[in-house]
Amino acid sequence: MDSIHMYGGNFLRGETKIQGSKNAVLPILAASLLIKGTCVIENCPRIADVYHMQNLLQELGCTVTWSGNQITVDASYVNENSMGGESVRRMRSSVMLLGALLGRIGEVAMTYPGGCVIGKRPIDLHLTSLSQMGVEIVEEEYHFTAKVKKLKGVDYTMPFPSVGATENMILAAALAEGTTVIRNAAKEPEITALCEFLKAAGANIEGVETKVLTITGVKELHEVKYKVPNDRIVAGTYLIAALACSGSIFLEQAPIEHLHALIETAKHMGGNITVNGDGLGIDVIRRIKAIPCLKTEVYDGFPTDLQSQIMAAMAVAKGESIIEETIFENRFRIVDELRKMGADIRTEKNRAYIIGRKRLEGAVVEAEELRGGAALVVAGLSAKGKTVVNNRHFIERGYEDICRDFRNLGADINIG
Ligand code: EPZ
Repeated sequence: MDSIHMYGGNFLRGETKIQGSKNAVLPILAASLLIKGTCVIENCPRIADVYHMQNLLQELGCTVTWSGNQITVDASYVNENSMGGESVRRMRSSVMLLGALLGRIGEVAMTYPGGCVIGKRPIDLHLTSLSQMGVEIVEEEYHFTAKVKKLKGVDYTMPFPSVGATENMILAAALAEGTTVIRNAAKEPEITALCEFLKAAGANIEGVETKVLTITGVKELHEVKYKVPNDRIVAGTYLIAALACSGSIFLEQAPIEHLHALIETAKHMGGNITVNGDGLGIDVIRRIKAIPCLKTEVYDGFPTDLQSQIMAAMAVAKGESIIEETIFENRFRIVDELRKMGADIRTEKNRAYIIGRKRLEGAVVEAEELRGGAALVVAGLSAKGKTVVNNRHFIERGYEDICRDFRNLGADINIG
């Protein structure tokens, strides 16, 4: 069965190691197309989205091999430039191949990547920014072609700090003619990781970790070995589970420097945080407190990718919490599922009003997307009785083994 079964209501106790970052490694895998040789990427999570990106790279002529959590990509020969059908539709981050392929071969034909339940997820910001660099884009109903003889540097201000559009522009600029300045760039840790990877391969990038990136095109990039940072959203998910269930857990090698907004929120809810060289700990000895108003924002605000998970914790907090989702237009999909567990939540436009209950009741619930699915596991671990979360495959897109990790933290949980 494609589900996860758990018996909730117990404290969480124990420690677990945090995996490599999905959202960092996907653009880095795309960037390997810019290197006519071999890249060795360490700490790569074994998750469905990475396997999917591997298939896309292999369809383009790359050789991809694994050794544990190390993935090696040989992009010496890239021979295909049309990305179509199921491969692209199934995963939005395939759009990141656009900038890399334009940088490598100057031409791409691609079906529009699928939106998903959290929003339409258009790619207009990607296409507009690339067209500023001389890319000619012809849009048809279900697909588009992008062509350029030689990418040209440009001084461009992003209308919105889109993570993916910033990544695509960085990938296009690395080998472009002249200098590209990206203003109002996204500055999520995944952007920093991509820039570090490219700089290790010989790219010339200034302003990393700021909203203004200056990229001076170089002739070519060389082979590189790079270790992916750990996943801040996976670590955040487990930290929030401790808030919802109470207990005492330690997250080995959690990327603390990327979790400040969540750590502050956890402290306000009543969590006692400990930080040391090896990772992040949290003790939650009594029922957590509500948060009067929590807004999701671009980095380094509270991440939208932890919004569903914190909602699951707020559902059992003392008092009324309000969440304002400012990044995606439809990211309250799990509210109906949490209501099946007895949660008292109502939504109005992009705000959710949560009145905490002492306890949720176990139920059979349906995951509809990655982070909402993880949030339902958090709710199930805090609820009394048995919870079954169906559509486990959504969760496996981003979590290497959520059951293994939660069992390390003392939970009674298994795949079903
Ligand atoms: C990345 O998606 C992440 N995915 C998302 O994580 C994350 O939620 C998001 O950034 C925001 O932090 C990966 O890195 C693979 P955006 P991305 O472009 O790049 C709108 C997860 O759970 N927009 O910053 O698609 C868009 O619709 C995933 O791991 C346009 O309108 O995010 C959204 O409302 C979910 N036009 C907002 O901007 C565009 O051309 C933010 O999108 C592009 C985006």
